[in-house]
Amino acid sequence: MRHILEAIQSLTSSGGSATAVSADFEALTLPESYRAVTLQKEETDMFAGLDSRDKDPRKSLHVQDVPVPELGPGEALVAVMASSVNYNTVWSSIFEPIPTFHFLERYGRLSPLAERHDLPYHVIGSDLAGVVLRTGPGVNAWRPGDEVVAHCLSVELESSDGHNDTMLDPEQRIWGFETNFGGLAEIALVKSNQLMPKPDHLSWEEAAAPGLVNSTAYRQLVSRNGAGMKQGDNVLIWGASGGLGSYATQFALAGGANPICVVSSPQKADICRAMG
Ligand SMILES: NC(=O)c1ccc[n+]([C@@H]2O[C@H](COP(=O)([O-])OP(=O)(O)OC[C@H]3O[C@@H](n4cnc5c(N)ncnc54)[C@H](OP(=O)(O)O)[C@@H]3O)[C@@H](O)[C@H]2O)c1
Repeated sequence: MRHILEAIQSLTSSGGSATAVSADFEALTLPESYRAVTLQKEETDMFAGLDSRDKDPRKSLHVQDVPVPELGPGEALVAVMASSVNYNTVWSSIFEPIPTFHFLERYGRLSPLAERHDLPYHVIGSDLAGVVLRTGPGVNAWRPGDEVVAHCLSVELESSDGHNDTMLDPEQRIWGFETNFGGLAEIALVKSNQLMPKPDHLSWEEAAAPGLVNSTAYRQLVSRNGAGMKQGDNVLIWGASGGLGSYATQFALAGGANPICVVSSPQKADICRAMG
């Protein structure tokens, strides 16, 4: 992975043309394996009989080398520079409400390509900022060398049900939770329609942090297919200093609504007041 990291570091300083950068990245040899944060299928019962609060993610999460997955049509392999820990990371790691391997088995039954995801290990993580390494057949909007952020919505979009609202696609999944090859790894596999340009003014870490929580809060509160929040609405936000809550608070303020923030301590109330 070192030569990939060096190429990425020189990318930020080189200022070369997009075509030259793309050719440079295409010429990079991909490793056969990469380091990833995984859960093991054979360990799904390891916390049996324990209260949720006693289930320790440090016992179930492993860092291991896994093979680079085969690249399919409409997909991209991305070198991950930063990812994030979400609540679904916690759910996954304590095998609640159900082990994520059930999702992978079910996805695996969809098609021979989806079958790649059904493995005895699960690479988790639903956010990333990084650089495109390879694109599959049919990908035209992205090239190797592009600096990107990935959102976490993985959809097949073969049914018209999802055309007005991809969340309603019957084959809608959260990448790195209900699919394999997630973001807490050196390399991730995504559908190319998950990619967005990385904002230049954000660091890798800043770019990787907001994707899942920001999109969720926007979808729930602001979007046409969500609550359609409008000026003057009173918006009750439980856990307002957390990931979703802090974005919800900012959306409410920016949209002229009144955020009513519920938090559990004076310190968290200060975080909310600091948002305005
Ligand atoms: N469906 C989706 O698309 C989707 C997407 C993302 C997240 N989620 C879910 O949304 C929730 C929030 O995610 P997040 O990333 O914002 O997590 P987070 O940053 O950890 O924030 C969660 C907040 O919940 C509050 N909280 C903790 N225990 C509580 C309790 N017993 N009763 C009431 N509030 C409690 C905490 O605030 P206080 O200490 O101030 O109470 C905490 O700040 C999670 O359940 C997550 O799984 C759903």
